[in-house]
Amino acid sequence: MDFFTQVLHLVGSGAAAFITARNMRDPLTRPNTLASLQLAESGSVPYLEALRDRASAEGDTWLAEKLTCHANDERRHGQIFANALKQLNKQVIDFKKAPQAAEKSGESKRNPFFDAYFEGYSQGELKPEAIDWIAFLASTYILELDASKDFVRMANVLPEDEPVSAKLKKGILSVASDETGHAAYLREALERRLMVREVDAVIDSWRTRKVNAILAMVSSFIQKSSKSPSLVQDGVPSELSATPEPALAA
Ligand SMILES: [Fe+2]
Ligand SMILES: [Fe+2]
Repeated sequence: MDFFTQVLHLVGSGAAAFITARNMRDPLTRPNTLASLQLAESGSVPYLEALRDRASAEGDTWLAEKLTCHANDERRHGQIFANALKQLNKQVIDFKKAPQAAEKSGESKRNPFFDAYFEGYSQGELKPEAIDWIAFLASTYILELDASKDFVRMANVLPEDEPVSAKLKKGILSVASDETGHAAYLREALERRLMVREVDAVIDSWRTRKVNAILAMVSSFIQKSSKSPSLVQDGVPSELSATPEPALAA
């Protein structure tokens, strides 16, 4: 990674974390922020489980065990955000009942961030049964590492003098510590497959991709400059098991 990319990384991730933290602190934007986090966290579970099955079929029991824990953690993260929404008497919108809303908010289909992050990879190449292991491990390592820091920033803006926020703050800090653990095993998995020098190079290339992806996301946001679609509706779900589309998430 060159110096310019490094500077952009710091500016880009700082800006993204600032916006998310601000959206979490503001009671008006908090429900939508929680909903998008719930979707991202729960949405990664089927993907990770499919990768776990593949690792196991390929005889890599070490990786299969790590992916099992990873999937379970992400499921728990989704529930933390679902519970926080429930406290606000909200839930993620039912995409089956609101296809238009799903289309409008269908960021997983055309998400400028993911399009740029995985530039050069076809949809088929990103499927769990096909993705190159090194690409999966390194790309997810970067997302997990950054997510661990972003979650700490998000938790730190929540007040402690009010029980609902205080509980959410504790939950988000536990999410942050899980993400640190995910980044650690992903790096270890890379080190089991590559020489240290190669690990550094591949991580460096995904860091550059992340910087470019943030820039793409910001420019698309500015271009659209329209209001984000709402991801929440009033009411508490009968069960807390939203099954959104699979997405690569931290
Ligand atoms: Fe997570
Ligand atoms: Fe994670």
